[in-house]
Amino acid sequence: MRTENNYIEKIKYSEIEIQKRIKKLAKQINEDYKKENKEVVFIPILKGGLNFAYDLIKHLTFDLSIDFIKAKSYSRFGKIQSPEISYNQTIDIEQKHIVLVDDIVDTGETLLEIFNYLKKYNPLSIKIASIIIKPHNAKTKHIEKYFLWNENPSGFLMGYGLDFEEKYRNLPYIATMTMLDNNEKNK
Ligand code: IMP
Ligand code: MG
Repeated sequence: MRTENNYIEKIKYSEIEIQKRIKKLAKQINEDYKKENKEVVFIPILKGGLNFAYDLIKHLTFDLSIDFIKAKSYSRFGKIQSPEISYNQTIDIEQKHIVLVDDIVDTGETLLEIFNYLKKYNPLSIKIASIIIKPHNAKTKHIEKYFLWNENPSGFLMGYGLDFEEKYRNLPYIATMTMLDNNEKNK
């Protein structure tokens, strides 16, 4: 059996750096929403957005409510299919401000699907807060974004919400993964 350490190549975003940036981002979000008289609903995208959402909302000082949406979009060998969305809505979002919370926006495919899906509920606005936003996705240009990092990290990332085969989401940091050859993968 393998332990997480066999897969970790190097820590890319440390726990301290993540938490520092979350506090800074929270200040900006507090500024943006403090005078808002319409309701604000934070919607973490499960499962990857959970860790980030949990840490972020602790620093928010305006009234907000929370609901969840689930999207499954990643296949291990890099083939991205249209994400499956499940939304067991518990809060009416009509005429409310939505902030989606996710781990990483890569092609923007998942975000765009969820954005269009939620638009049908007629919210006032939909923004996204993501740990990492890769700057290349043109499809989501029209969506307002909050992020900790706006860059294109190389390699496969895991930790702090990001999984490799459903594991390592619990790591408090984000690491790059060691590339395994096919024989190694099957062990
Ligand atoms: P997109 O639809 O291409 O933007 O893919 C976004 C989703 O793919 C993220 O929410 C993650 O769940 C997953 N994903 C993308 N890159 C990585 C990675 O490096 N590690 C783990 N999951 C990833
Ligand atoms: Mg995800």
